[in-house]
Amino acid sequence: MSQDTYVGSVDQGTTGTRFMVFDHGGNVVANAYEKHEQIYPEPGWVEHDPMEIWENTKSVINTALDDAGLDAEQLEAIGITNQRETTIVWDAETGKPVHNALVWQDRRTTDRVEEIQEMGKVEDIREKTGLECDAYFSATKTEWILDNADPIKLQRSRPQDVRERAEEGELLMGTIDTWVIYNLTGNHITDVSNASRTMLYNIRELEWDDELLDLFNVPKAMVPEVRPSSDDETYGSTDADGFLGAEVPVAGALGDQQAALFGQTCFDAGDAKNTYGTGSFMLMNTGNEAVPSEHGLLTTIGFQRSGEPVQYALEGSIFITGAAIEWLEDMTLIEDAAESESLARSVDSTDGVYVVPAFAGLGAPHWDQRARGTIVGMTRGTRREHVVRATLESIAYQTKDVAEAMVEDADIDLASLRVDGGAVKNNFLCQLQSNIIGTEIVRPVVDETTALGSAYAAGLAVGYWDTVDELRNNWQIDRSFEVDEDANIEVNYDRWKDAVERSTDWARD
Ligand code: G3P
Repeated sequence: MSQDTYVGSVDQGTTGTRFMVFDHGGNVVANAYEKHEQIYPEPGWVEHDPMEIWENTKSVINTALDDAGLDAEQLEAIGITNQRETTIVWDAETGKPVHNALVWQDRRTTDRVEEIQEMGKVEDIREKTGLECDAYFSATKTEWILDNADPIKLQRSRPQDVRERAEEGELLMGTIDTWVIYNLTGNHITDVSNASRTMLYNIRELEWDDELLDLFNVPKAMVPEVRPSSDDETYGSTDADGFLGAEVPVAGALGDQQAALFGQTCFDAGDAKNTYGTGSFMLMNTGNEAVPSEHGLLTTIGFQRSGEPVQYALEGSIFITGAAIEWLEDMTLIEDAAESESLARSVDSTDGVYVVPAFAGLGAPHWDQRARGTIVGMTRGTRREHVVRATLESIAYQTKDVAEAMVEDADIDLASLRVDGGAVKNNFLCQLQSNIIGTEIVRPVVDETTALGSAYAAGLAVGYWDTVDELRNNWQIDRSFEVDEDANIEVNYDRWKDAVERSTDWARD
């Protein structure tokens, strides 16, 4: 009797690594997750240990398969999805990183970015990459690693050799997708969606940009080959003698936000989704046209299937949303994420309190690298319930900031918004979000759309799924949240904008 077959997805996120296995109907049949350490060497710096990430990746794959009683041979393909922009440089011979990964939230290159801004490069960067010149992206992170990696750790190298070795291709750079693909298959590859987040890739010409590589001192020899997000040729296969014990094609990769767009089946221009993870990222598919933003959004590559043109997206990147709930836990204001809902519901309002969780500066549409977290409006009567509710409201307000920008840039009405990610289990937040942006919020049954999206990309490449219509048929609504017309939004939103003002430009020396 032949066994059923499935598609797996490695979802390597900011706080942890997940492996999920999906059946043909897009249902989850196996799932395992492990957290990894967040390393904060200095204020504003955030690092991850790439070896820990790779160890956890192997471990969650094996655990998920074991727990579900599946054999690796039952996997027809594996897709990768990942925290984007986070940058690793490693030795091509030993496969060992030369430094910890610099995480997307890391702000250590702020001064360097300001230098580039003062050189008048902002427009050129925006034109070529669709991005705002910001420390968020991989360009200045790669440059920093090359300038600061400890040559002693590079065993075979002489002290002055770090950059020289990079120029000779002896050191490789990559975002997390590339690191995972490299460790799974031995090949140095990224997909177009991840490349579009480096600030080194020309999203119109679809190639690494020589001038930008020069500007950021990144040798061309160290950047990965760029492939479609769903690649019929595949990126390579796992080693039959390796940890998995089977040869499984790795055939798709997407940055996590683009993967969620794919998993939410936003295949047509005008389709939009918002994912609530560590941060929140609203993406709208703009079809084959790279729409420039006039309101502080990013123009980015959504995805590409083999033999098809690239599909672009407009993106509103909000750095801190789910992480603000974690911060409430760290501050012992709540015991767990679920408690934020009951505490927020226990009061009628925030009593005038606003929390702006600009812990890593502000992303879209403000782009202020030096903004910092702010709480305003507290009185002697302020209780933790008010602060907790204000933190949840900040998630919804930040989303309104980017939704308004998106409607203006794309010149369409946002009739409904598909949502996913950990925080959408919170019904209070979903209802609040609907009231604040004045749009219906739709939550699908499978809310792990990030993993699902990369499984779809890999599965389409190997013919596990034949058409995107099959994927559209898999998408089912769990619950939709209609706007409550009685909610008093406009007045409070104006106060929110005042609070954002207070948080800006705080970290200037
Ligand atoms: O751009 C950063 C983003 O990809 C991180 O996503 O889900 O790990 O917070 P997440």
